[in-house]
Amino acid sequence: MRKKFIAGNWKMYTSKASSVALAKSVAEGVKDDRVSVAVCPPAPWLVAVAEIVKGSFVHVGAQNCHYASEGAFTGDMSPQMILDAGCRYVIIGHSERRHGLAEPDLFLNRKVKAATSAGLTAIFCIGELLAERETQQTEAVLAFQLDAGLSGLTAEQISRVVLAYEPVWAIGTGKVATPQQAQEAHAFIRQHIGKRFGNDVAQQMIIQYGGSVKADNAQEILKQPDVDGALVGGASLKAETFLPIIQAAS
Ligand code: 13P
Repeated sequence: MRKKFIAGNWKMYTSKASSVALAKSVAEGVKDDRVSVAVCPPAPWLVAVAEIVKGSFVHVGAQNCHYASEGAFTGDMSPQMILDAGCRYVIIGHSERRHGLAEPDLFLNRKVKAATSAGLTAIFCIGELLAERETQQTEAVLAFQLDAGLSGLTAEQISRVVLAYEPVWAIGTGKVATPQQAQEAHAFIRQHIGKRFGNDVAQQMIIQYGGSVKADNAQEILKQPDVDGALVGGASLKAETFLPIIQAAS
């Protein structure tokens, strides 16, 4: 039985004070570990947020990392630094970096390997553009992104990967995938993971859905057999809108 996993991606929002207040409210609202929960604040607030949620059922993730363990990489953070900051997770390949900043697949693959080797769980994001969906390329795009991003991972590394299916056309647009569209994509992703890494890995793999998840649509999406959670953007910025999504998962 796969445990549902709800993560909040705060993107480049919150101040130091509001991130700490939000983390505190989320930690107070999550009373058990029936659902895995994480919040992913902007990098400058990772340490403060990790301190606030320490001892609660809420974990912390970074939104990006470099693949090197250290070096002359101005502006970047290594997986080890993210661990030291008190994080368990790191988001890799979010479309706002993959498409928005043109991060190439090879680079993302290196990041997944480095993060998982360091002991972090990578939340690896994949998803098609609207034009790709409209021209029936969704499965080909997902297969390519999975093959490229997870290429060469060891059994140990793949066990520390969570996938997030985020159709790019649904991110921040209010246009959520229908439960059926989400289920179809998730079933395809699981089947593809099975082909590459074996059925056991595929059955254990947590696959989150992301893209305009809100309290009022979460339950229908989370009910789908291959949807194991959600990566939430806008609705994770307030405890009043994030906690009901966690409740919908439990
Ligand atoms: P929204 O929930 O704001 O659409 O963002 C989704 C997302 O990008 C999560 O990573």
